[in-house]
Amino acid sequence: MTKRIFSGAQPTGNVHLGNYLGALKNWVALQHEYESFFCIVNLHALTIAQDPALLIEKTRDLARIYLAVGIDPQVSTIFIQSDVHEHAELTWVLNCVARMSELERMTQYKDKARKQQENISVGLFDYPVLMASDILLYQTDLVPVGDDQRQHLELTRDIAIRFNRDYGETFKAPDAFIPKVGARIMSLSDPAKKMSKSDDDPNGCVLLMDDADTVQKKFKRAVTDSGTEIRFDVSRPAINNLLEIYHLMTGKTPQAVENHFAGKGYAQLKGDLAESTVEFLRPIQQRVREINDERLDEILDQGREKARQIARATLERVFHLTGLKR
Ligand code: TYM
Repeated sequence: MTKRIFSGAQPTGNVHLGNYLGALKNWVALQHEYESFFCIVNLHALTIAQDPALLIEKTRDLARIYLAVGIDPQVSTIFIQSDVHEHAELTWVLNCVARMSELERMTQYKDKARKQQENISVGLFDYPVLMASDILLYQTDLVPVGDDQRQHLELTRDIAIRFNRDYGETFKAPDAFIPKVGARIMSLSDPAKKMSKSDDDPNGCVLLMDDADTVQKKFKRAVTDSGTEIRFDVSRPAINNLLEIYHLMTGKTPQAVENHFAGKGYAQLKGDLAESTVEFLRPIQQRVREINDERLDEILDQGREKARQIARATLERVFHLTGLKR
């Protein structure tokens, strides 16, 4: 039987190069080998304050991005999380399986809570259980994500195994697919932090929808390390990050990248990187603009129906085994 992948991204603003290189790029590559489900996780977005009208727009914008980077709706299922209410229903049941102590250990929650301090929603705390529900509903084999989701995937496996043990075999325990290179693209302004849309410094994060001038400006301002040599070296995280981006973006081998920059300076590296990024983004941005609303509705409607069918079957079994339904 064809194995299944499931992944998703939050519609909390524009998608950045980290999201693309760490996750979306691999979705596109894997979609022909696996039966694929790509979700726009708007319930997750609600864990922090959102403007309702904007959330609707961002949700649709993210669907456009999925399509524009190369997710093919003929082979993959693209859908909106809140369209399939089984996600919320399974979350309740799994809330009763997950432990407070497990969620308290989640580093992403701790980071976000530290930043926010006041009025942290229960939803933010519960975020990983909703994520586990997303994955487990579809009997997923593989979850292509960036490195920051590793701990959430481990929790998902633990929840699946515990449920199966307590109630009977129901869920597949999924594996994470985390790429060797690109799983943690760092901020251009602080290579000790991952690239993130919530970064205080917008120059650290290149968005897929940034125009050419903005891309150039951001790379120009990127911090570098001391020394002059341009080669892959994890002990020089700023240059290493720029080279990783260049390598992934151009498809050139690491050796070819080093040869290309041999004897050249940082200004050249930044200039070339900006140029290849602009070239890379141009057709994506063009496709985003070309996708029409009706076609998008059609894709999301089909996605919802396909996803629901599978989600319903899993939830039926869960309700039966837990005594919620005969
Ligand atoms: P989100 O929207 O924060 O990020 C989407 C994907 O991008 C990856 N990513 C990165 N990869 C490399 N370098 C970076 N700097 C970087 N920043 C983000 C993330 O690892 C992610 O794969 N919790 C998920 C959304 C989610 C989900 C799911 C994912 C909800 N349910 C079920 C998989 C399966 C998230 O925060 O995505």
